[in-house]
Amino acid sequence: MGKKVLIIGAGGVGRVVAHKCAQNPDVFSEITLASRTKSKCDRIAAEVKERTGREIATATVDADSVPELVQLFEREKPFMVIHVALPYQDLTIMDACLETGVHYLDTANYEPRDVAKFEYKWQWAYRERFESAGLMALLGSGFDPGVTNVFCAWLQKHEFDTMDFVDILDCNGGDHGLPFATNFNPEINIREITQNGRYWENGRWIETKPMEMRHTFDFEGVGPRRMYLLYHEEIESLVQHLNGVRRMRFWMTFGESYLKHLEVIHNLGLDSIEPIDFKGRKIVPLEFLKALLPDPASLGPRTKGKTNIGVIVRGTKDGQPKTRYIYNICDHQEAWRETGAQAVSYTTGVPAMIGAKQMIEGAWMRPGVWNMEQFDPDPFMADLNRYGLPWKVVETDIDIDALPE
Ligand SMILES: NC(=O)c1ccc[n+]([C@@H]2O[C@H](COP(=O)([O-])OP(=O)(O)OC[C@H]3O[C@@H](n4cnc5c(N)ncnc54)[C@H](OP(=O)(O)O)[C@@H]3O)[C@@H](O)[C@H]2O)c1
Repeated sequence: MGKKVLIIGAGGVGRVVAHKCAQNPDVFSEITLASRTKSKCDRIAAEVKERTGREIATATVDADSVPELVQLFEREKPFMVIHVALPYQDLTIMDACLETGVHYLDTANYEPRDVAKFEYKWQWAYRERFESAGLMALLGSGFDPGVTNVFCAWLQKHEFDTMDFVDILDCNGGDHGLPFATNFNPEINIREITQNGRYWENGRWIETKPMEMRHTFDFEGVGPRRMYLLYHEEIESLVQHLNGVRRMRFWMTFGESYLKHLEVIHNLGLDSIEPIDFKGRKIVPLEFLKALLPDPASLGPRTKGKTNIGVIVRGTKDGQPKTRYIYNICDHQEAWRETGAQAVSYTTGVPAMIGAKQMIEGAWMRPGVWNMEQFDPDPFMADLNRYGLPWKVVETDIDIDALPE
């Protein structure tokens, strides 16, 4: 029997989640979309109705306020919340879930607004409270984190005894034709990539300067692109849950023009999260910059090309060395036609719906706070093929460290 779901956040990802849940009435029998700006929810609801014929309810909420959330949850009585607003709201929404007996799912780990630092420790600290309330919180059910965790779990289950060297590769080969824009929330995006890089090796973190390590990789469906080593949140949980990891790294592609703009932004101090005085009021430069940049949700119709995100693992099976590459390719224009959002939102929103589906159907329902790789990957992997993110696994002899810069 289907369940009622409450989606919080009416950005690019919320739009995709709303469409994908609406396409599955047997699982998501009722849908409410709530966000800070109700008109954005109403616009999405109208498009969902046009594309799928389904009505979804809309509401206003300030997700920074636990009392407002509690009021909304008590009124709506959802089975679960799919939180696709911003990482700043993870804890307030988790608090409201505990207060009202609602299950929780998100796509990005908590980040305090005033420190550009994202870690699982704040959310893992809710484990006992969720467990004793009989509630489940599923963390990071987007693409990366999310599908990349499930790819790793699937490789561990079916292909490897030890997963010695793990590299996650994220390529957005889309072109929106604008001089500079970010593909998801610019504030979160810029905070993520201007930090030092970090990877895991032999039981400890190795820090690099931002963009210090790079290689050019030939991505299927996109072509050769330069990718840079970044810290990414799934490494923190995956190194705890995969067998025999000796090194884990994360790589993301960026174009030259994008990096040049970022360098200028940085040199001007526009990426700073320290408030400054401006004409008698405090403003945060990065928030001001966000107001100037194109809304990522507006990039959909103009973005052409594909994303290719996957994982390469070098390890052993039955004592023999082997290497596998598992990946998905997603087309920006196809995503746009189906949901009115580009592929970066699509590749996040579809796994959020699939994670919620596993919880509602019971395949992944377990009280506590969990990361994606802690569940049986098979039903999730089958649903990726079914709901628009088909994947491939291939044998490979690629050695990333031997690739040119
Ligand atoms: N795991 C992954 O693969 C992955 C990839 C990309 C993104 N993400 C995550 O997905 C989430 C959504 O990304 P997006 O690109 O859709 O971002 P977005 O376009 O900026 O949308 C965020 C939405 O949240 C709403 N919001 C912000 N603060 C709020 C508050 N206090 N109360 C209620 N609503 C609030 C915004 O409302 P307004 O419209 O009023 O501003 C907006 O509708 C982010 O957390 C991002 O980190 C995950």
